[in-house]
Amino acid sequence: MRFDIITVLPGLLESPFAHSILQRAQKKGIAEIHVHNLRDYANNKHKSVDDYPYGGGSGMVMSVEPFAACITTLKGQNEYDEIIFMTPDGETLNQGIANELSLKNNVIILCGHYKGIDQRIRDLFVTREISIGDYVLSGGELPAAVLVDTVVRLIPGVLSDETSALSDSFQGELLDAPVYTRPADWNGQKVPDVLLSGNQSLIDNWRYEQALERTKKRRPDLLK
Ligand code: ADE
Repeated sequence: MRFDIITVLPGLLESPFAHSILQRAQKKGIAEIHVHNLRDYANNKHKSVDDYPYGGGSGMVMSVEPFAACITTLKGQNEYDEIIFMTPDGETLNQGIANELSLKNNVIILCGHYKGIDQRIRDLFVTREISIGDYVLSGGELPAAVLVDTVVRLIPGVLSDETSALSDSFQGELLDAPVYTRPADWNGQKVPDVLLSGNQSLIDNWRYEQALERTKKRRPDLLK
């Protein structure tokens, strides 16, 4: 799967994809992540990518031309399944959307800044608008990193133990059960006996009960 992220702050996206699972996915050739500097597509001598809003008001609006130029260039090189705009007024990201996107081949992600982007970019190019939650960040870069992370780990072959993505909280309808590792006794705080019992069906049962309890308490809305 190929991601092309368009941003005015490419430096913000240098590190998030250079570690751990995302780095491994790229090394294996399962995911390609390309970051494009919007300013490279600005067709004016100051390389400006924004302007004052028509009708007045505070803040700058990101202009149509640089986004249009970058998207058109990319579309000349690849076919894209989705052009996603990260925005707090989009549909809220969840595991279902991540699963859906993990089946796509190529996506472009637009990161907004300032007061927003010219509506014509949204009308003419964007196929999907996604928010990562009901709060406002300074720009779409961190949301884009969140989206790429949650999608890439779902692509088959990315996680060494594929079942571990399947048992994630939110992948089913229950949250995860608590987990423990050594030591079995830390300052008198003991790991539940059942996990040391070696009896797998007892352990599976305990995990299910714990997951159910946790979900009832924390996220009853997930239990249909
Ligand atoms: N840009 C700013 N805030 C955002 C949010 N919550 N989700 C997606 N993009 C954003």
